[in-house]
Amino acid sequence: KTVLVLNGPNLNTLGWREKNVYGTMSLAEIERNLTALAERLGVEVRCFQSNHEGALIDEIHRARETADGIVMNPGAFTHYSYAIRDAIAAVELPAIEVHLSNVYKREPFRHVSVTAPVMLGVIAGLGPIGYELALKAIVAQLDNVKG
Ligand code: DQA
Repeated sequence: KTVLVLNGPNLNTLGWREKNVYGTMSLAEIERNLTALAERLGVEVRCFQSNHEGALIDEIHRARETADGIVMNPGAFTHYSYAIRDAIAAVELPAIEVHLSNVYKREPFRHVSVTAPVMLGVIAGLGPIGYELALKAIVAQLDNVKG
């Protein structure tokens, strides 16, 4: 089984971006930890980050053939990208949305997720561990559904 781990705009700057909000762990470290966890869980992860909406959508489409589930932090696209929402809906794979920060205690524009309704679930506010919890949940879901 393969899980696609997608990160949207500005998440390549983790480590130096607004450390008080997002912590100090880089995306490379997060991806390394996820790869190690995946090995323990007996699945593969493929990690992809882009600052471009279309590139993320292309990758979601590719997942239809090449992945069994998706863990995604859409970054600010969460709040307004109907195109990413439609792509997730189109591929019909279990997907979990992750936010490092607790978006609900931040600015009002972050309280709305247009992508959440097409996700299996959402994890917010737990930092990098959120990605690991999402990966575990996707694997549990795949085990339940496909045995
Ligand atoms: C984020 C929250 C978004 O509001 C923001 O635009 C991000 C990161 C998070 O991980 O907390 O880029 O998705």
